[in-house]
Parts: sequence; structure tokens; C-alpha cells
Amino acid sequence: MDGFGIHRLSPALGAEIRGLDLARPLDHGTVAALRAAWLEHLVLVFRNQSLTEADQVAFAQLFGMPVGSRSTERKDGGDSRVMLVSNVRENGKPVGVLPDGELMFHADSVFLEKPLKGALLYAQEIPREGGNTLFANMYMAWDSLPDAVRSRIRTVDAVHAYDYSTQIKTAAFDRSRVPHAVHPAVCVHPETGREVLHVNRLMTEELVGLNAEDGRAVLELCFAHVERPEHLYEHVWQIGDLVMWDNRCTQHARTDFAAGERRLLRRVGLEGERLPERRDGTG
Ligand code: OGA
Ligand code: MN
Repeated sequence: MDGFGIHRLSPALGAEIRGLDLARPLDHGTVAALRAAWLEHLVLVFRNQSLTEADQVAFAQLFGMPVGSRSTERKDGGDSRVMLVSNVRENGKPVGVLPDGELMFHADSVFLEKPLKGALLYAQEIPREGGNTLFANMYMAWDSLPDAVRSRIRTVDAVHAYDYSTQIKTAAFDRSRVPHAVHPAVCVHPETGREVLHVNRLMTEELVGLNAEDGRAVLELCFAHVERPEHLYEHVWQIGDLVMWDNRCTQHARTDFAAGERRLLRRVGLEGERLPERRDGTG
């Protein structure tokens, strides 16, 4: 087995894996150990990698079924399982998705019936400052949520919506025009069996059955709780970083960066399933 080191990146989540070249084939023992580390640390970081698109897809495949964007065609004709996250523009049009600035906390594709299982982002160009990616541990967010809030949302469904054209939220989305889905506000991770809080600031619009004002207040409490520093790891990118997150038990956000700076990352998603709910009335 290829040996590797695991170095925790914050008390909440995240580990750097040292000693592996992901462009080379990995043996079964190593892959099994990486899968276990991913479930334990939620976010894995590999520095100084030199990966082609094919390398990145092949590595992603060890953890699930690679999927690219489900909304936009890739404009440069490359592998459709690879999506560009970039503010770089050609003829005035961004070459990728999620181009500019700050991005609120979210889990990927929660506005769809089957959100992503995970995603792998590989840095090719990064701004001198900012454009960091923050990750939150959603097991921890749920476990530490005050009881008064837990009891409000324990068995409630939430509606999630997303507008591909604006992407960065400024107001409530016009739901008749954007994809939306309903999921339990508290879900169960299908592999670990642990409960996670499953509402996010970018996409969650409503708690079903609560009046609008009350629902908004409960959601605000949840969002602020998720974003507490003790639940987070902040990734400051270097070129050649590959970062993979478990989308079933984490959320992520991006800090602002200057519009004049280039930022280009390659992203491979992993096909997901609908997260199970647990409604046993306890906790
Ligand atoms: C994503 C995403 C954040 C970033 O790829 O899903 O939210 O830091 N990226 O670019
Ligand atoms: Mn995202």
C-alpha cells in the first residue's frame, strides 16, 4: 500500500493528505484508506498535484460517478464531466460557472431531487488574495444547535431554490422560473448514519408549515450557527491543490476577491442520492 500522512486542518473538519501523487494509479488498500479518511474528515486536501482532466476524472471515479454541470454545456468542448469554476472571460462571457466574488454557504445541487454526493475542485489559477473556500461541518452544526431550534426543525421539510443566471443571491428566487426541491431539514448521511442539518443560506427559502416570518427567523438562527468559526475550515488555495468535499455532511462558501484577478478551478461532481430522513421524534 502507498503510505500517506493525514494532517488535520482545523478542529472542525478537513485533513491534508501528504505523500500521494494522484496522477498515478493507487492500489486498493490506499483507496480504501482514502475513502475512510474522507468519511472521517469530510474534506480532503492534496497539495502540489499536477493533474490532467483525465487524471482528475479517474481519481474522482474512485469515490463515485463523475458528473459535470447539469445546467450549462461546457463551452470549450472539453470532457462534460469536468466543469470550470472561473471568472475568466472570453469575448466578455465567463468561460465557467460561479464566476464572481463572494458566494454564500451552500451544499451543491440541493435544489435538485438528488444533490451531489461530493465534488473535487482542482486549482489552476488563483487570485493573489481572497477567493478562499470555507467549509462547514454539518454534523457538528446539527449536534450543537440549541435545543429550542432543534425541536422546531427536527421533523420539518425545507424548500430549496436556485437561479443559475444570478447564482449569487440578492433576494428570494422567483420559484416559478428556477429549479427547486423539498428535502427534510435534518437528514441522515447514508454511509455514516449520522444526522446533519440540511438548510443553507444560498438556497433554502422556506420551512414548510411554519409561517413566513417565523420560518425565516428559524432559518437565520440556523445559518448563523452553521457559520460559527468553530464549525469551519477555511481553505486558502495554492495552484495544484485538489480539494474534495463530502457534500452530504458539509457546506461551503467563498470569500470575495478582486474582479480584475483571474480565478480558474476545474471541478468534477459525484452523482448523489436523495438523503434519507430520520423522524423518530427523539433528540
Ligand atoms: C463549487 C463552489 C466555491 C469556490 O464549485 O460548487 O461552490 O470556492 N465553489 O469556487
Ligand atoms: Mn458549490
